[in-house]
Amino acid sequence: MKLQQIIKSTFITTAATTALLSVCIPAQVHADEIEVLHYWTSGGEAKSVAELKKIVEAKGVTWKDFAVAGGAGENATTALKARVMAGNPPTAAQIKGPAIQEWGQEGVLANIDAAAIPGKWDTLLPKVVSNTMKYQGHYVAAPVNVHRVNWLWINPEVLKKAGAKTPTTWPEFFDAADKIKKAGLIAVAHGGQPWQDATIFETVALSNGADFYNKALVKLEPAALTGPTMIKTFDTLAKIKTYIDKDAPGRDWNLATAMVINGKAGMQFMGDWAKGEFTAAGKVPGKDFLCVPAPDTAKSYTYNIDSIAMFKQKDPTQVKDQLILATAIMSPQFQEIFNLNKGSIPVRPDVPRTKFDSCAIQSMNDMASSNKAGTLEPSMAHGMAVSSAVQGAMFDVITKFMNSNMTSQQAVTELAKAAKTK
Ligand code: GAL
Repeated sequence: MKLQQIIKSTFITTAATTALLSVCIPAQVHADEIEVLHYWTSGGEAKSVAELKKIVEAKGVTWKDFAVAGGAGENATTALKARVMAGNPPTAAQIKGPAIQEWGQEGVLANIDAAAIPGKWDTLLPKVVSNTMKYQGHYVAAPVNVHRVNWLWINPEVLKKAGAKTPTTWPEFFDAADKIKKAGLIAVAHGGQPWQDATIFETVALSNGADFYNKALVKLEPAALTGPTMIKTFDTLAKIKTYIDKDAPGRDWNLATAMVINGKAGMQFMGDWAKGEFTAAGKVPGKDFLCVPAPDTAKSYTYNIDSIAMFKQKDPTQVKDQLILATAIMSPQFQEIFNLNKGSIPVRPDVPRTKFDSCAIQSMNDMASSNKAGTLEPSMAHGMAVSSAVQGAMFDVITKFMNSNMTSQQAVTELAKAAKTK
């Protein structure tokens, strides 16, 4: 997909591009200084990225933070496209999944084999990770972590107050949600934003089987997208909607997590970056909060691998600094400290488990068992499964469904159309 098309896919008008360029073009970065674009701005995320900054600066490279707030990175991607269009890309940017291939096709990503080969990344990394980091067989991005998306975060105090049990199936979930609602609390904390709507949607789809999930949201098979199981997925999503509070539209994901932390709400469907918020608030898993696989998904795992892609630079010092950054990201030291704060797990299986909590250990175990069982799936909502264009079109359908009386039948028809977006 040409850069122009990528730009168009975010509906940037010329005027808006000019406006955006005027705010996005910082002074040129100086030698031995790297500028890194990311969207890790919540409590837990900011603490995590601060660890990477510390490690890089200890190696004599100044970190110029190019942080653009906005969950799941839609705003950051818009800012990045404007900078690249202006011929002034940052040193590196948080880019992941198939988007790495889209940027690779533009010829703007730097080859970092000079870090990956001596660092033995091919040996260290699971194939599902190393393949995602390469464009035309060469590494262009360094993998930061593995997040699990199909989690349900629970405040056990709220369950107790409501006389509810920890749900593992949908009937148990809706029973708990009814009891929490009856107790006068919010059953499901949610932020009404497309990516968050899509996160719940894909988790419900996964609960109908990893095979169905793969056929519908990875292979985009029309029969799966329009069949009875997808109808059932939207029916379940419609029922979940009735347990979300009226102030959800536009709420940021971490504010929804705060509602569970503070006991205003009982549960939240979210990837385990939410655990980073519980950790940052000093909460202890198993005591102050529970991490449970979303209903009927305990034997499956939707993964979301964050990565930092490197942009071609003319200045040889920038090139050297990119290799320092990439090597730092793959170091066991960074992989441990970053993921302890971020709520994710290391990409390197050789990082000791000792400091990781029960949620992280469960994620490591479940990822390994799902991989063996063939139920390890890429997250569509978090840019691991389909092109940016298809993901955006699917988001539009799902969010319309969440905010209207669209029927499940109408939704599956629209979703199948969205899957054909070029
Ligand atoms: C995901 C990203 C996570 C976290 C989350 C909320 O897409 O991979 O690292 O940032 O969005 O913004």
